[in-house]
Amino acid sequence: MRVDVVSIFPDYLAPLELSLVGKARQSGLLDLRVHDLRDWATDRHRTVDDTPFGGGAGMVMRPDVWGRALDDVIADTGSDADAGSDGEQAGVAGDVVGAPVRLVIPTPSGEVFTQRTAEAWAQDARLVVACGRYEGIDARVAERFRERGVVVSEVSIGDYVLNGGEVAALVVVEAVGRLLPGVVGNPESLVEESHGAAGLLEYPVYTKPPAWEGHEVPEVLLSGHHAKIARWRRDRALERTAARRPDLIEALGADALDAHDREVLRAAGWEPPAS
Ligand code: ADE
Repeated sequence: MRVDVVSIFPDYLAPLELSLVGKARQSGLLDLRVHDLRDWATDRHRTVDDTPFGGGAGMVMRPDVWGRALDDVIADTGSDADAGSDGEQAGVAGDVVGAPVRLVIPTPSGEVFTQRTAEAWAQDARLVVACGRYEGIDARVAERFRERGVVVSEVSIGDYVLNGGEVAALVVVEAVGRLLPGVVGNPESLVEESHGAAGLLEYPVYTKPPAWEGHEVPEVLLSGHHAKIARWRRDRALERTAARRPDLIEALGADALDAHDREVLRAAGWEPPAS
């Protein structure tokens, strides 16, 4: 997958050189490029914003600067193979020549970005993330690129307001990047995590030592009895989800809970919705 991030603070994206995403870049699984929006400004001060029409506080990012930047970035269909080599394995990121682009615009007024979104986007060949600052990007930018057939996704990473889209870009790249084949060493670790297919939060996890400062690891986890361990984990996942995210329990399909699950939930104080 190729990912381009455009920002007035390219250094904000430096953490993407670390950890699993950094390794994915080095091994060529992820072709990630960060661009400075000001490179597309035309005046001496490299201006990217102006005052809002209609009045109000703050500044809005200019559509002409963003238009030029995104036209150039989208038109650059090069893959790792022709990026010039700094010791990287070339071409593993996939052939992006002519591949459709998803333009991601992080904004607190977007649709909420979830694990389902990450799963869907992990199938894309190219993401271009446009990080707004100030009061956001002139609305005509999304409009123009949609009009030209680009899939534009305006997404929020949660109900709070950040100073710009950079942190959201980090979130999106990490959440999507770790789902690319080969990025997480053991793909099984993606199966049972929170927000996975079961629709529940993950159960609590433990490691050595078995006793620590008077706190013991639950006996069943030391038993080697796989069916009992699986049942215990599901029970804890149900309890935890009912306590912390009752909305996720309500969102489960009618067939997702059996009689035992309902018993566990009732004991945790959850009432099944009246039918
Ligand atoms: N930019 C500012 N706040 C944001 C949020 N919550 N999600 C995505 N982008 C943002």
